[in-house]
Amino acid sequence: MAKILIKNCVIIPMEKELADPGERYFTGEIAVSGRRIVHVGPQGTVSSDFQAERVIDGTGKVALPGLINAHTHAAMTLLRSYADDLPLMQWLEQRIWPLEANLTPEDVYWGTKLSILEMLKAGITTFADMYLFMEQVAQAVQEGGMRASLARGIVGGERGLAALRETEELADKWHGFEEGRITVMFGPHAPYTCPPEFLKEVVKKAKQSGLGIHIHLAETLDEVQRIKNRYGKLPVELMEEVGLFEVPVTAAHCVHLEPHEINILRDYNVKVVHNPESNMKLASGIAPVPEMLEAGVTVALGTDGAASNNNLDLFGEMRAAALLHKVNKLDSTVISAYQALQMATRAGAKALGLEDLGVLKAGYKADLILVDLEKPHLYPRHDIVAHLVYAVQAADVDTVMVDGRILVEKGQVLSLDEEEIYRKVKEASDRLTGQH
Ligand code: NI
Repeated sequence: MAKILIKNCVIIPMEKELADPGERYFTGEIAVSGRRIVHVGPQGTVSSDFQAERVIDGTGKVALPGLINAHTHAAMTLLRSYADDLPLMQWLEQRIWPLEANLTPEDVYWGTKLSILEMLKAGITTFADMYLFMEQVAQAVQEGGMRASLARGIVGGERGLAALRETEELADKWHGFEEGRITVMFGPHAPYTCPPEFLKEVVKKAKQSGLGIHIHLAETLDEVQRIKNRYGKLPVELMEEVGLFEVPVTAAHCVHLEPHEINILRDYNVKVVHNPESNMKLASGIAPVPEMLEAGVTVALGTDGAASNNNLDLFGEMRAAALLHKVNKLDSTVISAYQALQMATRAGAKALGLEDLGVLKAGYKADLILVDLEKPHLYPRHDIVAHLVYAVQAADVDTVMVDGRILVEKGQVLSLDEEEIYRKVKEASDRLTGQH
């Protein structure tokens, strides 16, 4: 059990849901033993019994909980910049799906490794993935050292039943790996690709296994129209009717909601993942995030896949969320910097059912990051929370710890071979697009 002490850093615990500016951070120290945080407090308060094997000087740095990317398709890094600035259905049907049909398990393994490299460097410690070849994704996560919640993407029909079995096999092997570093969810793709009868089967399996469900919900107007035409209901109404919300649900997007649908999400404690950059880039719309927060819905943040973002950077996503809702409401008080940071940390942990994560507090899992403040764009320091949302860049991340293990030091990823990943990804993308 490695014992690590981080001293002299600014600490943003994110423990309080509402915090006055003066209560949001302080200068102090964090002690980690094994996979857990054992102490967070002012300088010199750690117990004299704590014998650190390693002491990290946090001078000039800010410590915060590792960021949680609560909705992505990690291996879609392979498709980054392959198709942009196209109408959604043309983008999907003519560009993305044909290329995805040729993906091999090995492609997904290397695409996921690239995304892990990118996310770790950007201070992301956990991601929730929905894709295919999830065994290879799990291997990449195991080797890269990140925390992940994995869901095999499932569409209805014959292939759907096979994908349900794959999920069960994945869960048998990986759910709870290393005390929960890897967890598994069912991943029915969306209401318009999974018919109600099929979704009922997913719910039944989820109840039997105790796993949660990760789904895309109410992402576009086209989806709302299709569901209305087919079933005479709105997407959230239909999901309530099929019983989806009787198990823990992580719902990505929720862009197009009627006010009563927000209440349904709140009443069933459905966790929503907001993906502002993907919603903007695909012109899906603006999710009613201020309304959901006001109603008491947990709203986390995600990047979605790299083909519709195009990076996996939650600092950018926090900034986008804060700015998008301010301009949409013509109200600069909407989505404060602290709220945006909360969405990327403790709300993300809640969204994935990881209750002892996302806060710097004794007893919580030791997933944390140190951001280097010694940068021109981070002087002076009137408000460090505002800096993290409005001024920090992913490249300012200095140190990343997941499960008590240091994976990034001075911006360099220790757990992965960067050059090898670039080479393998180039080979895979050249083959997929027919270039040599
Ligand atoms: Ni998605």
